[in-house]
Order: sequence, then C-alpha cells, then structure tokens
Amino acid sequence: MPKGEQRVKLRAHDQSANKRVFPVRGPHHFSSPSATRALAARLAPLLRAGDVVALSGELGTGKTFFARAVIQALGGPEEVPSPTFTLVQTYDLAPTPVWHFDLYRLGKPEDAYELDLEDAFADAISLIEWPERLGALLPVDRLDIALAFGTSENERLGTISGGASWTERLKRLSP
Ligand SMILES: Nc1ncnc2c1ncn2[C@@H]1O[C@H](COP(=O)(O)OP(=O)(O)OP(=O)(O)O)[C@@H](O)[C@H]1O
Ligand SMILES: [Mg+2]
Repeated sequence: MPKGEQRVKLRAHDQSANKRVFPVRGPHHFSSPSATRALAARLAPLLRAGDVVALSGELGTGKTFFARAVIQALGGPEEVPSPTFTLVQTYDLAPTPVWHFDLYRLGKPEDAYELDLEDAFADAISLIEWPERLGALLPVDRLDIALAFGTSENERLGTISGGASWTERLKRLSP
C-alpha cells in the first residue's frame, strides 16, 4: 500500500464516548520513582506502531519521568530531555520510533499539525504529555495514564484506561 494510504488523518473525535465505554484501572500506588519505572518497563514491550499514550497530571507528577523510563526500556539513550521548549523529541529506535511530546506550550490544537503529529500517529509510538492540549484531535483509541500526587513526597497515583486496541493489553499491564 502506498505510504499515503496508511496515513492517519488528524480529525476531531468525540472524547466523551471514551470515558463511558472503557474500563479504568487503579489508582495504582507508586511508592517511589522505581515503582513508577516498573510500570513503564511493563508497558514498553506492549507498545507498537500507531500507539498513543496520553500522560496527564499536574506539573511534577512524573509524566516526563514515566516517558523517559519507557524510552529507556525500549533501548533509548540515557539522556532523555523534557521536550518542554521543542514540544517534541524523536527517538529513532528499532523496531518502532518513539516520539515524545510535551504540549504544555501548544497554543491551540491545530498548531500540532506543524509537529507532524499525523506521521507520529501513523508510524511511531507517541508519548504525549499535556494531551488535553490536543482537544478533540486526541485519538480515542489510546492509552490514558493519569498521574497524581500521593500523600508522601515520593508517592504517585496512576489511573490507567485504554481504548479498543488496549482491551487485551491492559490485562497484562495492569492485572
Ligand atoms: N513515585 C514517583 N514516580 C515518579 N516520579 C517521582 C516519584 N516520586 C518522586 N518523583 C519525582 O517527581 C519528579 C517528576 O518530574 P517530571 O518532570 O517527570 O514531572 P512532569 O509531570 O513531567 O512535569 P511537567 O508538567 O512540568 O512536565 C521527578 O523529579 C521524579 O524523580
Ligand atoms: Mg514533563
């Protein structure tokens, strides 16, 4: 098939449908950074081209920490900077490249076209911090990982839900 036919078109999705249909797991308690990293290590081998992982949560809840752990588990470099200012950082990993987004500074959802988001959604694994910035352009079939602060300094809570393509994989990620 010519490459063009495989392209995923960015389009608006009804986000409310997702919330009603897909099961939510958690909250899981991550008592330390290494517990959070362990979930990332379990997720990494389940990921495939076209996956979108939406990492939400307030500043400092560990979105970059989690994305970094996934990238490293997939064979990425020791140095995984936060794409705070570049908005996207790509990792040419085999067999599947990884695109790490931080959309905090995205002005409006349509600005994401300039980041070649369609290419990422078609061919890569997309790890997206501040996914809500995409509004309705965020694909419904995605993995949502919502991070929150726990009661102690190093505790985080993680709530996980996944779209249709995640039904089986969620059982392995979050039994
Ligand atoms: N259980 C934990 N899991 C993950 N990170 C933790 C945990 N406990 C402490 N931390 C620390 O919390 C910080 C999380 O910072 P990080 O940059 O990942 O946040 P962020 O959610 O990406 O913030 P931003 O919205 O600014 O991008 C790191 O310094 C990390 O070491
Ligand atoms: Mg971050």
